[in-house]
Amino acid sequence: MATIGIFDSGSGGLSVLKEMLKVLPGERYIYYSDNANCPYGEKTAEFICERAESICSMLIEKGAEIIVVACNTATAAAIASLRKRFAIPFVGMEPAVKPAALGTRSGVIGVLATDGTLKASKYLNTKDRFSGGVRIEEHVGRGFVELVESLELDGKRARGVVEASLLPLLEAGADVIVLGCTHYPFLLPLMESIAKERGYEVRFIDPAPAVSRHLVEVAAERGISSADPNPGVILLSSGPKESLERLYRSIL
Ligand code: DGL
Repeated sequence: MATIGIFDSGSGGLSVLKEMLKVLPGERYIYYSDNANCPYGEKTAEFICERAESICSMLIEKGAEIIVVACNTATAAAIASLRKRFAIPFVGMEPAVKPAALGTRSGVIGVLATDGTLKASKYLNTKDRFSGGVRIEEHVGRGFVELVESLELDGKRARGVVEASLLPLLEAGADVIVLGCTHYPFLLPLMESIAKERGYEVRFIDPAPAVSRHLVEVAAERGISSADPNPGVILLSSGPKESLERLYRSIL
């Protein structure tokens, strides 16, 4: 593999880049944060498709040979049209409904994601195929993306915002919760502490490690050769870069 493009509506995709760097440390990554247009969660699918196409054209011009859509919302809205329009391989996010359904003991799983992801046919199909008789409780992580973009990962206000979306899932009996938005893993320590304090035993599933393993397989299948002569990470964004750079330093 030589150059890998990766994009998200903001800094959330860094939670995926973190896992990619573990399995493929010697590559050249170009990360694009579309933070001038963040959040994507409540934008139309047409808008997200247009942004995704123009970001991918730019990443390909800069040499990307494979692109990871490190955003559940953009995967749901745009990956099919990206695959039609561009000849390079794309790897997208999949809400981890299947492993959650296999792992639950209570028979209830929770899914935290954006409104766009939860309403998309891609998610609805995954749910139909893999939920296997378990009950799925869903909640939009309202305000989570804004917390991560402003690096507010703890404190009283962040706790209140996270509790409002997490507690309904815990109260409904979910013992496995899928993180269906790439921003949410940055709030995992806070979510774990809220659950523990209230006496809930719950496991959170972040699909990023599985997506990174899939990236390795896709690259190998397509014969994209490994190890770039200029490894490293280039960070680009459509808006201010400071919080992106700070969050990036925290994943290293
Ligand atoms: N990080 C994104 C996702 O995985 C997008 C969140 C947003 O911009 O609303 O869905």
